[in-house]
Amino acid sequence: MAALQEKKTCGQRMEEFRHYCWNPDTGQMLGRTPGRWVLISLYYVGFYVVMTGLFALSLYVLMWTIDPYTPDYQDQLKSPGVTLRPDVYGEHGLDISYNLSSPDSWRGLVLTLHNFLAGYSPELQEHNLNCTEEGYFLQPSFRAPNHTKFSCRFTADMLHNCSGQQDPSFGFMEGKPCFLLKMNRIVGFLPGNTTVPRVDCAFLDPARQHQEPLQVAFYPPNGTFDLHYFPYYGRKAQPTYTNPLVAAKLLNVPRNTEVDIVCRVLAEHVTSDNPHDPYEGKVEFKLQIQEGGTPLSPTPTRRLSPPGPMTDNKG
Ligand SMILES: *[C@@H]1O[C@H](CO)[C@@H](O)[C@H](O)[C@H]1NC(C)=O
Ligand SMILES: *[C@@H]1O[C@H](CO)[C@@H](O)[C@H](O)[C@H]1NC(C)=O
Ligand SMILES: *[C@@H]1O[C@H](CO)[C@@H](O)[C@H](O)[C@H]1NC(C)=O
Ligand SMILES: *[C@@H]1O[C@H](CO)[C@@H](O)[C@H](O)[C@H]1NC(C)=O
Ligand SMILES: *[C@@H]1O[C@H](CO)[C@@H](O)[C@H](O)[C@H]1NC(C)=O
Ligand SMILES: *[C@@H]1O[C@H](CO)[C@@H](O)[C@H](O)[C@H]1NC(C)=O
Repeated sequence: MAALQEKKTCGQRMEEFRHYCWNPDTGQMLGRTPGRWVLISLYYVGFYVVMTGLFALSLYVLMWTIDPYTPDYQDQLKSPGVTLRPDVYGEHGLDISYNLSSPDSWRGLVLTLHNFLAGYSPELQEHNLNCTEEGYFLQPSFRAPNHTKFSCRFTADMLHNCSGQQDPSFGFMEGKPCFLLKMNRIVGFLPGNTTVPRVDCAFLDPARQHQEPLQVAFYPPNGTFDLHYFPYYGRKAQPTYTNPLVAAKLLNVPRNTEVDIVCRVLAEHVTSDNPHDPYEGKVEFKLQIQEGGTPLSPTPTRRLSPPGPMTDNKG
């Protein structure tokens, strides 16, 4: 009943509201004097100005510290991964197998290589430089057109017998297949101070490797990645950069048996013993070359000597 007594009429409520909007006795509007309204408005204006300023400042600082020419997060990648072509994956990683007597079994592998090397045609490389220097191609400033940096040319013909030009079957037809190796790009990566990174390939099974070492012809000679392809400055700074390649032509692969082969990049700053990344600094693959239905001796082909010794003392 108490609540009922406190109920006011509609007229009383309107009167109270009008009094609240403008109180002629105290000069208050909506419960505050005009002077206080001005003060509170100024306070809020100041408050929002400061907030906006802080926001703009933090945004500015962020934009200023971000360099559009380098990716921000790549601290995970200290040593580059290595990729192989042709890249056919089986249940346990790369698994390449074909039958010498049946061209259909290697046609796809060879096509993979031709397609891959299409990116290394002279036309696509025409804006790049013919680099001949021995050391790193360091470019602190943006000298190339449109605020970019120069890239060195790498054309397929540098892979000689593994370029697909003299031998369109990349050696697959004769059973001495070529494999192309590429190091993944890491912005600013320098592979070593004094030595040129080079590829070395071997049978993974130490007993087999000891008994009859894998013989490899490397292109470019010695299986090196020239230092003038390093460092890489990023996609925006070097839009026409192409990864250098090394081709490994395997000369004495045993027939009708599966062999495990490992190719490592040897360089001061390339590691290949990361248990969490089997493709860091190296690539392992299974290879099986079948030959006819008639069993032949394990090494039916004449052996060619590789063009260079396995060691590299280059300064
Ligand atoms: C680089 O060499 C190729 C042939 O070897 C030539 O056609 C091309 O013009 C050269 N490019 C530059 C930029 O010197
Ligand atoms: C530079 O940029 C302009 C406009 O994007 C383009 O037309 C021109 O081909 C570029 N020059 C080079 C050398 O890439
Ligand atoms: C390319 O292969 C041919 C024939 O197998 C050989 O005579 C020649 O020496 C090879 N070229 C190079 C650069 O290894
Ligand atoms: C590589 O060279 C840089 C400077 O040129 C030097 O600071 C660094 O210690 C060198 N690293 C090795 C492993 O020699
Ligand atoms: C390889 O292909 C030939 C012809 O197609 C076939 O006769 C032979 O049995 C195949 N060899 C193997 C080991 O599969
Ligand atoms: C290959 O390595 C050998 C031995 O280190 C060296 O004498 C030769 O100059 C190298 N060849 C090339 C083309 O780098």
